[in-house]
Amino acid sequence: MRTLQKSKNEVLICADAVELARESARRFAELAKVFTADTGRFTVALSGGSTPKAMFQILAEKPFADSLPWRSIYFFWGDERCVPPDHPDSNYRMANEALLSKVPIPRENIFRIPAEDDDHQRAADHYSETLQKFFGEEWPHFDLVFLGMGPDGHTASLFPGTTALGVHDRIAAANYVEKFQSWRITLTADSINRARNINFLVAGKDKAPALKEVIRGPRNPELYPSQLIEPYYGTLLWMIDEAAATLLK
Ligand code: 6PG
Repeated sequence: MRTLQKSKNEVLICADAVELARESARRFAELAKVFTADTGRFTVALSGGSTPKAMFQILAEKPFADSLPWRSIYFFWGDERCVPPDHPDSNYRMANEALLSKVPIPRENIFRIPAEDDDHQRAADHYSETLQKFFGEEWPHFDLVFLGMGPDGHTASLFPGTTALGVHDRIAAANYVEKFQSWRITLTADSINRARNINFLVAGKDKAPALKEVIRGPRNPELYPSQLIEPYYGTLLWMIDEAAATLLK
């Protein structure tokens, strides 16, 4: 494992996806203990896709499964596909099967995105209201937000050239993604950037070209939406593997 420092953002390079999963689980546990000790709770927004699954599986096992303060941890999502919660494409379903159903966490601590609602903007508004009610504020302030990044530089469901990139007055937005011919519900960059900790998990050679552009390239968030992620006052950590870091050297 080695580190590259870029202003207040850190890039941590793990040997491979296995070390990435282990290290991200360790950091999750560390933050969970710090925040629950400080504030009595730990609020986390999970990413979807395939990369976080291995981390979830590690957290569902010893020593984490029976040592973390699960009753004080609250789970949210950064984005969701517009499918029912039992659908194979559901980010909620993946996290539930890999982690949440395996640890002693009260179901009322889990706030999934109601993305099965055919009225997509209503689903996004409903989720925004849920977050405002939970945080008791106009905007959510997550303790930790996990994000992934696609080979096209998208993050959460903020895809290149889509309308949600330009949404600044909402916590969550419905976003039509032409290339998938489907809708997604996503937190906006303005919500994500209010987090205390933002942690990208990026693995694989196919991500290397976009990662180089996002981290080292000229600012062009319309083309590389991951560049929109700039915490207002929190920390940003890129946890990547050597394969994804190939072009950063
Ligand atoms: C989703 C995600 C998305 C994901 C990236 C990376 O719902 O698909 O939230 O932003 O994090 O597409 O996905 P992989 O981890 O599968 O490469």
